[in-house]
Amino acid sequence: MGSLINEIDMSSLPRHIGIIMDGNGRWAEKRNLPRTMGHKEGTKRVIDIVEASYKLGIESLTLYAFSTENWKRPEDEISKLMELLIYYIRTQLNKIMKNNIKINAMGDLSKFPSKVITEVQRAMDLTKDNNKMILNIGLNYGGRDEIINAVKNISTDYKLGIIELEDIDELTFNDYLYTKNQPDLDLLIRPSGELRISNFMLYQLAYSEFWFSNILWPDFTEEVLYKAILDYQNRDRRFGGI
Ligand code: FPP
Repeated sequence: MGSLINEIDMSSLPRHIGIIMDGNGRWAEKRNLPRTMGHKEGTKRVIDIVEASYKLGIESLTLYAFSTENWKRPEDEISKLMELLIYYIRTQLNKIMKNNIKINAMGDLSKFPSKVITEVQRAMDLTKDNNKMILNIGLNYGGRDEIINAVKNISTDYKLGIIELEDIDELTFNDYLYTKNQPDLDLLIRPSGELRISNFMLYQLAYSEFWFSNILWPDFTEEVLYKAILDYQNRDRRFGGI
């Protein structure tokens, strides 16, 4: 059987794909494994999906790795997630550089342990001039938090006279978001059967197409990504027009 990639219209790819990576815990529980094993397997899918997106020519890929609400999880699960993030950066950074991918952390990093901050900062510094694809990673990320943060920064710039009231429009507002200079989210993917947005990219998803699936994130292969893109290409996007 051929790959679905052959059916994708390369001239109308989504420019920006966002994924709420969900279902790691359930994947593990179904196998009587600790939840952290689901996160470990999920990290392998991060590697696969970053590679597949880069090969397709997606401009921006946003992965929701850790939300502002995830601090409510047990401490050992949180520390395993931090470990996996460090593992991901350490093992993938060479390839990410070679593939000309820029890493952009979205969220307030200051709450993380210093070794996480150091590693994420190193990845961002090293990849800052790369321009084939941007890999946004939501870390202590919340959509409301992002908007409030943008409003605070705009207010500061207004007070300092850097920005005038009449300059504030959708385009300038974008400059105050973590996704500055990036296209709006075209395609939002949420696996695992949940039909929620969970505080993800509330501003950027104004006109996104939503793609939900019962597949759990550790089972999310490249072919599933291609299927989501094919379905996206069959949608009629009108942006409020007719
Ligand atoms: C949701 O599944 C998943 C997360 C909260 C973490 C996602 C993190 C990774 C895949 C690995 C680390 C990230 C990177 C970028 C290397 P869940 O635990 O809520 O699953 P459940 O709903 O089945 O319990």
